[in-house]
Amino acid sequence: MSRSAHPAGPRHADVLTEGHYSAPAADLNVLDEKVWARTVTRDADGALTVGGIAVARLAEEFGTPAYILDETDFRARCRAWADAFGPDADVFYAGKAFLSRAVVRWLKEEGLNLDVCSGGELTTALDAGMPAERIAFHGNNKSVAEIERAVRAGVGRIVLDSFQEIVRVAHIAQRHGIRQRVQIRVTVGVEAHTHEFIATAHEDQKFGIALAGGQAAEAVRRALSLDGLDLIGIHSHIGSQIFDMAGFEVSARRVVQLLAEVRDEHGVELPEIDLGGGLGIAYTSEDDPREPHEIAKALSDIVTRECEAAKLRTPRISVEPGRAIVGPTAFTLYEVGTVKPLEGLRTYVSVDGGMSDNIRTALYDAEYSVALVSRTSDAEPMLVRVVGKHCESGDIVVKDAFLPADLAPGDLIAVPATGAYCRSMASNYNHALRPPVVAVRDGGAHVIVRRETEEDLLRLDVG
Ligand code: LLP
Repeated sequence: MSRSAHPAGPRHADVLTEGHYSAPAADLNVLDEKVWARTVTRDADGALTVGGIAVARLAEEFGTPAYILDETDFRARCRAWADAFGPDADVFYAGKAFLSRAVVRWLKEEGLNLDVCSGGELTTALDAGMPAERIAFHGNNKSVAEIERAVRAGVGRIVLDSFQEIVRVAHIAQRHGIRQRVQIRVTVGVEAHTHEFIATAHEDQKFGIALAGGQAAEAVRRALSLDGLDLIGIHSHIGSQIFDMAGFEVSARRVVQLLAEVRDEHGVELPEIDLGGGLGIAYTSEDDPREPHEIAKALSDIVTRECEAAKLRTPRISVEPGRAIVGPTAFTLYEVGTVKPLEGLRTYVSVDGGMSDNIRTALYDAEYSVALVSRTSDAEPMLVRVVGKHCESGDIVVKDAFLPADLAPGDLIAVPATGAYCRSMASNYNHALRPPVVAVRDGGAHVIVRRETEEDLLRLDVG
């Protein structure tokens, strides 16, 4: 199959050409553990269960479509990241992937920190009791009100994204009589793709301050000169859904070079570096993600090596995985509404959701898997396109996949690996009601984000 499509955006890659789908798996009933949440299995009747609960029960109790999130898996992934990086590093979960109050509580209990990138995410984090010092505040255009709130709450760090923001945060902190801990986000001239990276002189994008042309060095100079700021380190985030560690290596090397320049110019060794998020997950059986301990080792080796070469004390490393923690822990459960064979082409399977609950296929040409989950089937594989119920022909959930040929209205199908950037990017297009997120654990299921209702829609529409 062509792997040229890049989930971070069509500008990065060619669009999949028609007909570039894999051959069907030998047995469509087998659930590839790479793409499914950890407690997913089939019960004796062939129905998919998660956390010990059969999907038919979940559908009956909570309706479809619904995001079903495996809390046991979420917590296990948090622990795996925390253990892999150890006590001398910090893991910040990137809340933009999916955030709710329950998620904040789980993160708190599992010892993770939290990266927020808006006032709304900050409110959710604080409301659910995340200690402010464990919160990092990101964003390329934080409002004055958002900065005020973050400073007053006492967030552990604000990641500065522009020259204007350096001054803005410094003034606000000074007004509140504090020195705000900050990092400067730099762009290192590396653009990472799923299976490759490109090193360019400049990154033509909106985030951060370029290392190129001495801009980042100038930002450090200004931040060090302002009383309201306590500059604790440098931040770099190079992209998303990345499998190749080479981009991180170049990024780490360039950030360490900047630390050495700062030491030479100011006599200050900045104590921290943050290498961002972006680690890839398996959406289909063809993806091969790295385990957290491999990632931790690769990053810490490169930083240690570069620091030794530059005769710098090794800084404390932090990372910000979002997708790699929550992505694999959830699947979207849909009911099949119509099955429409198009002679010589493929069969269109319409489900009761679509681009309003998963925009990633339409937006990024992202690839997903799909399985019949309410039962098993021995029928022949048929080539399908899973589509939603929206008034738009680009309303595609899974572009090319195989499902059993006896698929019928009323069957439940599920799309795995929808924990990240699906509910958080969901919309009300066509006045769709955003689905609930149901957390399952040890035979129990409960709603952590409820389904929207028509009353919710009308409440905002003030006439
Ligand atoms: N840190 C920073 C500064 C980020 O900008 C991001 C993601 C992350 C961490 C987390 O990246 P992750 O580990 O989740 O890949 N909507 C797109 C992804 C956009 C990511 C934006 N920044 C998607 O659905 O693929």
